[in-house]
Amino acid sequence: MANINDYIENNKDRFLNELLDLLRIPSVSADSKFKGDVLKAAEFIHGKLLEAGADIVEICPTGGHPIVYGEKIIDAKLPTVLVYGHYDVQPADPYELWDSPPFEPVIKTTEIHPEGAIFARGACDDKGQVYMHIKAFEAMMKTDNLACNIKFLIEGEEEVGSDHLGIFLEENKEKLAADIVLVSDTGIIANDVPSITVGLRGLSYVQVEVTGPNRDLHSGLYGGAVPNPINVLAEMIASLKDENKKINIPGFYADVIELSADERAAMALAPFDEEEYKKSIGLSATEGEAGYTSMERSSIRPTLDVNGIWGGYIGEGAKTVIASKAYAKISMRLVPNQDPDKITKLFQDHFTSIAPPSVKVKVIPHHGGKPAVTPTDSPAYIAAAKAMETTFGKVPVPFRGGGSIPIVALFEQTLGLKTVLMGFGLDSDAIHSPNEHYGVFNYFKGIETIPLFFKNFAELND
Ligand code: BES
Ligand code: MN
Ligand code: MN
Repeated sequence: MANINDYIENNKDRFLNELLDLLRIPSVSADSKFKGDVLKAAEFIHGKLLEAGADIVEICPTGGHPIVYGEKIIDAKLPTVLVYGHYDVQPADPYELWDSPPFEPVIKTTEIHPEGAIFARGACDDKGQVYMHIKAFEAMMKTDNLACNIKFLIEGEEEVGSDHLGIFLEENKEKLAADIVLVSDTGIIANDVPSITVGLRGLSYVQVEVTGPNRDLHSGLYGGAVPNPINVLAEMIASLKDENKKINIPGFYADVIELSADERAAMALAPFDEEEYKKSIGLSATEGEAGYTSMERSSIRPTLDVNGIWGGYIGEGAKTVIASKAYAKISMRLVPNQDPDKITKLFQDHFTSIAPPSVKVKVIPHHGGKPAVTPTDSPAYIAAAKAMETTFGKVPVPFRGGGSIPIVALFEQTLGLKTVLMGFGLDSDAIHSPNEHYGVFNYFKGIETIPLFFKNFAELND
């Protein structure tokens, strides 16, 4: 594939500048203020897929943000790869914590990215990684190297739960027929430790509301004699874990598949430095479920975390008040065989049952998603592993990721398709955080690796 590498080399500046253009569009799916920009990002992807050589490209409206679909079918006898990704991004706030504005991308070097990193919201999650696929497709088309049929499914609602994509899969089974789904929306262990994600956690997300008195009260006149919903909420949350940091909700672990000693030993072979880990996030000690390592706690074990908590007076100075209501948003990451709906129900029943009689409690479920595991002995995994081995010079390590991409379970359930998670980000790229960035090295490594996946996959399917 010599000429394809020349093509990539000769077009590097343009490949980078086009990504910067995409990153300038603030396609925040969670905030309706950006609805027009989300559509603009969809139109941008649509245009670039056409330019790259797709035969059909459509912006498919949904009940929410649109889905961009594209395809290039070269030969019905060849295997078909369905490339999935998302062009929507997380909200960028708090803006003041960014060193440069989130939608004005800049390239700066960092310790981990000596060749430079692109700083912008969505640089890594997932615009940078989606755009690698579009440019790899362009390079394959322009050099006559496309080895499989290709379909693109690029959505605008991943960061808000992919609600309408599930329906789209149901309604377009034939259109989306393929042999494998290829996704770059995860990471590698390090730039010199290539790896392939072989599992994702599921998610149950709830909001809770605790109501005490029917109005905010003077904390002197009433304090001591009435329930304070903020205190009560804090006590209820504290009781959700025991002294070993096990989650106290009855039945929570019932469906969890425990890994065998051999599987845990294999996992422990992946490079992980606890000291580096602590240092990178400014901690002097880690904590978590007794009996598991940090790597296990953040991948093969379920979690319960408060993501936000509010109520009462948080303005300047002091106001003496007992609030009427207190709120929290709570996420539970789930592992294979746990069902998000079942876990949400268990949480709801338990949380309501532990409320003292002095308060009223509401639990409002948000989006959820099923966990996923992907095989390591399939032609698609082998194709990805060989492609990465070629470009990184090392065999990639299979590892289980801690994040969630709920649609992956639906690809299997609705379309009967397995997924390969060949992502190129780093955990330190600050996705969802201020100063999100994506290595220039990683961007081009992805563009070089993807065509090899297609070539290897076609050969393995011969
Ligand atoms: N790309 C991430 C998920 C991810 C990142 C998985 C890195 C593995 C490694 C995705 O965009 C994401 O943020 N997913 C959400 C879930 C969704 C329902 C909002 C998450 O994991 O919080
Ligand atoms: Mn993502
Ligand atoms: Mn994300």
